[in-house]
Amino acid sequence: MLKHKIAVIAGDGIGPEVINEGIKVLNEAARLDKGFEFGFTYFPWGCEYYKETGRMMAEDGIDQLKKFDAIFLGAVGAPGVPDHISLWDLLLIIRKSFDQYINLRPVKLLNGAPTPLKDVAVQDVDMVFVRENTEGEYAGSGSWLFKGKPNEVVIQNGVFSRKGCERVIRYAYELAKAQNKTLTSISKANALNYSMVFWDQIFEEVGRDYPEVKTYSYLVDAASMFMIKDPKRFEIVVTSNLFGDILTDLGAAIAGGMGLAAGANLNPERTFPSMFEPIHGSAPDIAGSGKANPLATVWSASQMLEFFGHNKWSERIIGYIEKILTEKKVLTPDLGGSATTSQVGDEIVRIMQSEFAAE
Ligand code: NAD
Ligand code: IPM
Ligand code: MN
Repeated sequence: MLKHKIAVIAGDGIGPEVINEGIKVLNEAARLDKGFEFGFTYFPWGCEYYKETGRMMAEDGIDQLKKFDAIFLGAVGAPGVPDHISLWDLLLIIRKSFDQYINLRPVKLLNGAPTPLKDVAVQDVDMVFVRENTEGEYAGSGSWLFKGKPNEVVIQNGVFSRKGCERVIRYAYELAKAQNKTLTSISKANALNYSMVFWDQIFEEVGRDYPEVKTYSYLVDAASMFMIKDPKRFEIVVTSNLFGDILTDLGAAIAGGMGLAAGANLNPERTFPSMFEPIHGSAPDIAGSGKANPLATVWSASQMLEFFGHNKWSERIIGYIEKILTEKKVLTPDLGGSATTSQVGDEIVRIMQSEFAAE
């Protein structure tokens, strides 16, 4: 039988709590389908591991992960470990080492999900962000000069390569073309007179190969305003690493909250494993309380199923999430309910069984 080998990095805080529920759903999909199965291997990496060993992952961690078909990640970060260490030495190093240059983040208001926006219909919030995921403002290039001295200087470079920009922009054009959607590029060429002028130029150049795709180009400040005031302007969106990070938390806020925001870190060539994760962090404020919403993780499990070609299962799972949201009986507190993380996971499994039997 087709077996998908998954490396699980549950991580810190609510990471392990939500990952458990994602795994329940993946296993149940496999059990019902009978055509594929999952093999999960757990890696104990994260901030506890760091406190014991001084490392966020094993020294040969990247080599160990290489042989898996995908990585399923909860969240990383804990009080007491500086965030730039915990995130750079685990999450960001995986995205870079495995050339996961596409960060695909749906910003879609599902049936039954709450939005703080007034007068918007569910279909008005239906975007897919294609975030550049390996360079840009996250290149990790810079210096810290004269540390602690009065003339101290820090430099954080934004690195935009032609290859890096072209491939993410082309991916977004292909997606827009395949789905017959508009494509919006978000940049900031009025102020960032090298990087974003270059980005805009490449957006135009690559666009010549896609005359059928209707495009828009927005400055990031205006785009953030329009996401709130008129979200239906946006369908497929392509943007740089940092802008994509910020705008997808804004996107989460208008599409049901952090508990519903999923993301896939893709290496489209499949030379290396891709990584699936909720976009939220380790939420130390609610960790251990059973209040974490696992639906973002379940949604990223659906993205994993799509990546493996189980498109029907990917769609079904979105439908099951909509069912739990519209029934409103078993939801975590962020969505106005009083259920625990694992009760939500169990309810999704129950819905899977009854809906699948009724198909
Ligand atoms: P966060 O996403 O962890 O939390 C922001 C707010 O959203 C909190 O109030 C939290 O309770 C709430 N929230 C998040 N996920 C939720 C869920 N599933 N259900 C219900 N509520 C949820 O962001 P933060 O507080 O800025 O960061 C906390 C830590 O996580 C930091 O160490 C940060 O660096 C790290 N972080 C990690 C990742 C990752 O691993 N992918 C992503 C973002 C932040
Ligand atoms: C995300 C996170 C990460 C990012 C952090 C934790 C480094 O915020 O996945 O959105 O900025 O990419
Ligand atoms: Mn983020």
